Amino acid sequence: MTNFPLGVAVAVDGNANLLSNQQRQTIVSGNFSQISAENQMKMSYYNESTFANPLADQMISWAKTNNLSVHGHALVWHPDYQQPSWAKNPGSDFKTKFINHVRGVATKHKGQVVSWDVVNEALYDPADAGGQSAPPQAEYYRHSVFHNQYNGPSYIVEAFKTARQADPTAELYYNDFNTEENGNKTTGLVNLITYLKQQQAPIDGVGFQMHVLPDWASMASIEASWQKIINLDPRLKIKLTELDVRVNNKYSNPPKVISSCNNCPELQQQKQRYKDIIAAYYRIVPADRRGGITIWGIADPDSWFASDPDWPLLWNASLQPKPAFDGVKEALQAGQ
Ligand code: XIL
Repeated sequence: MTNFPLGVAVAVDGNANLLSNQQRQTIVSGNFSQISAENQMKMSYYNESTFANPLADQMISWAKTNNLSVHGHALVWHPDYQQPSWAKNPGSDFKTKFINHVRGVATKHKGQVVSWDVVNEALYDPADAGGQSAPPQAEYYRHSVFHNQYNGPSYIVEAFKTARQADPTAELYYNDFNTEENGNKTTGLVNLITYLKQQQAPIDGVGFQMHVLPDWASMASIEASWQKIINLDPRLKIKLTELDVRVNNKYSNPPKVISSCNNCPELQQQKQRYKDIIAAYYRIVPADRRGGITIWGIADPDSWFASDPDWPLLWNASLQPKPAFDGVKEALQAGQ
């Protein structure tokens, strides 16, 4: 349907396990052209000596059988609940282990993935700072274990160079969230991509996660943020890597939070929001620079926001398409 990858994040464990759920398999193979592993290809899921990851193998082979491509997520990410022990307890061999992981995973999946989120979330975010206070002006980086061990952002350059060497044909992305707000973090993103280019890091694109609220970020901010990356380099692709649109906004004042949503009117607003974002993607991102759009999960109960509660996805708990599904479809048809 689209001439860019249309993706969905899938689980290979728990209630939404794609490998054991026929209905979800039908949804994924019938509506998408790409998958991302919601968790299974993150750092802690690999054996650090052999890089064995049997569930990732099964997922990738399912994708192949069903003619779907795989976007790798992610070679480097900081949260310690999804990190190998060498990163949780860094020792003097930290850099060796770091390079070994990026090389090992990228080599294992060479020819199996079309693209990678090479580094995920390297920018400081006040809403997710893990105790880090705001970095000094013009220093936008998250002080993750990688940043601290490398004494700065050079680990990002190292990761891109290592990934390119290991798998020369995969497209390599830098991925982050809240970068669509067109605020400090977007400035940080421009700063980081400028630095990566100066360092000749082989970067092909920028991933905007796009976990958005009903009324945040504004469409004007979203468009301006994408435009900044488009203007920065004549070649970088823009990929919406983790799109989901929440119904609730617990951050607004007063909070706007509903506790159930059976055909609730908010679903119409959600539909329009999905439509607006996809329409903007066609309007702002030139055709040859569209890296694709991925929705972060299949059905509402699968969503990482489900317990908030929220209903951010395209299928409901009965695995029926929601108004949001029609919104995506209409926007994709209009864009062709
Ligand atoms: C989330 C998954 O959806 C959850 O299942 C998991 O518990 C935590 O990670 N940014 C990312 C994704 O890049 O990997 C995160 O996925 C959501 C935020």
